[in-house]
Amino acid sequence: MCGIVGYVGPRDAAPILLEGLRRLEYRGYDSAGLAVLTDDGEVFVEKKAGKLSNLTDHLNGSAPAGHPGIAHTRWATHGRPNDANAHPHRDCSGRLALIHNGIIENYAEIKERLLSAGHRFTSETDTEVLAHLIEERYQGDLVEAVRDALGEVRGAYAIGVMHLDHPNRIVGARMNVPLIVGLGNGEGFLASDVPAILEHTKNVVILQEGDIADVTPEGVTIIGMDGVKVERPVTKIRWNIAAAEKGGFPHFTLKEIYEQPHAIGEALRGRVDDAGNVKLPELEAIEEKLRRVERVYVVGCGTARYAGEVGAHLIQSWAGLPANGQIGSEMRYSPPPIDDRTLVISVSQSGETADTLAPQKLASERGAVIVVVTNVVGSALTREADAVCYLQAGPEVAVASTKAFVTQVVVLEMIALHLAQLRGTMSDRRRRSFGLALRDLPGQAAEVLKLAPQVKKLARRWAGVRDVMFVGRALGFPVAMEGALKLKELSYVHAEGYAAGELKHGPIALLDPQTPLVAIATKSATYEKVVSNVAEVHAREAPVVAVATVGDEVIDRYAQDVLYVPETPEEMSPVIAIVPLQLLAYEVAVARGADVDQPRNLAKSVTVE
Ligand code: F6R
Repeated sequence: MCGIVGYVGPRDAAPILLEGLRRLEYRGYDSAGLAVLTDDGEVFVEKKAGKLSNLTDHLNGSAPAGHPGIAHTRWATHGRPNDANAHPHRDCSGRLALIHNGIIENYAEIKERLLSAGHRFTSETDTEVLAHLIEERYQGDLVEAVRDALGEVRGAYAIGVMHLDHPNRIVGARMNVPLIVGLGNGEGFLASDVPAILEHTKNVVILQEGDIADVTPEGVTIIGMDGVKVERPVTKIRWNIAAAEKGGFPHFTLKEIYEQPHAIGEALRGRVDDAGNVKLPELEAIEEKLRRVERVYVVGCGTARYAGEVGAHLIQSWAGLPANGQIGSEMRYSPPPIDDRTLVISVSQSGETADTLAPQKLASERGAVIVVVTNVVGSALTREADAVCYLQAGPEVAVASTKAFVTQVVVLEMIALHLAQLRGTMSDRRRRSFGLALRDLPGQAAEVLKLAPQVKKLARRWAGVRDVMFVGRALGFPVAMEGALKLKELSYVHAEGYAAGELKHGPIALLDPQTPLVAIATKSATYEKVVSNVAEVHAREAPVVAVATVGDEVIDRYAQDVLYVPETPEEMSPVIAIVPLQLLAYEVAVARGADVDQPRNLAKSVTVE
């Protein structure tokens, strides 16, 4: 949602903070701000609505020298995205500054009380109450004041606090929103995510819910909400800063599309042997529970939900278990039957999506077995899981998810094969053939990327298009929905994904020569039915673009453009069929001059319901 970063140590804080914000901008870009304790002994605060560049342009290299400092990039929840509502927020004395990611649910009642006690507010945010609440509790011990104040709030938060009286300290706290501490050489950091501080240290402590961290140049001391000291392990980050850079690509989105062959390889690494046997050591400890499972829900939001639909389809078909995809934000409020024979698989790139976390908690309370599929080590979802299968895809920075989708599908495929093996629902030969097909995917994904020039030409023709419809059947249906989502969020072209068979039940009325249809028509059990649907559309003179299997000689009778992809078993096709659609969405967005890496109104991780 928002991104926060803090620095304490001997160097000037401002350049470190601004660079940190640059790497966190994917988390929100409604405003940016920083606070620095200047060498003149003041708490300097500057903040600007809009992107980080507004703040840096305004500062124009003239941020004051000094340390420590804290900084924030915002995705607005309470209060419009203007300068006043930008973080950091100060207390009445101006000696304390605070940044916050999350939502304080009971802020209205606290604000009312603080106002009647004489506190003066300068913003419409929920966050500002925290600054005044800490001010109220402060008697010289900043950590204690933070702990005392947080005892009064409900909601989700990762905060960073600094105070004029404490030139060698920043205090962080976490509840249901990620926050890490970086341990440098004689310096300390706070950050929402690793890329913000990776340039300075690879040693991080992942804070847990309720942790309050006292960060000084000497290290970190962590206490819980009860004031008792807790020990947290130091995690060594394995990837380097190059992974969080554009690496010569014009956008992170494109870089991450091109990283997919490698990312799929990483997701498979150590998990499929040469004979095609899938081994997920992460699931070994819960094998007994998995054997007893009677139904499965695969839950996620947005792109992760569409990957989940693929996973549910395969689990049902391979492991013979009733399995459904679930929309995270819906599942909590109209929960399906859940008990201790239910397996819930939460799918999330960030591992911190509130709409996925909430149904997972509910399922956990009802005794379900919880498996989490995520990219972010130690993220919120992982903490209440019985088992975690990491994507191993490397950092995904662009707001629109691409390599996370394909690796989520690949990991879900492996889970489905693992379940099939445990339950004995598939012959060894067939199971291994799918394992081997998984191993072919990195090379096939690399092959599909060669379609880029053809897709670019098509996208130029489409620059003025207003509406696009995407259709597919069976496993092609989630691909159609994901293709439509990519197009709408990257290029702002209206797009919808439908089950191809549904077209004739209504949506076909929308098609005309100006409204193209994209059909997922790769080789599958439903291929002929998809071709019939495409023929119906062709007869109504809507232009058709088909994603089809190389060697298909039928489809181009009906499709104006065919994007040929390598042949895979139908079960693997989503991983390959989505790639040209990602490229298409990207190129249409570029042709329309859209802000590809930071589409309007979006943020990469959505930590509010
Ligand atoms: C779309 C996109 C979003 C996310 C969704 C879930 O490109 O990125 O739809 O997929 O917000 O996010 P995670 O996977 O972090 O739970």
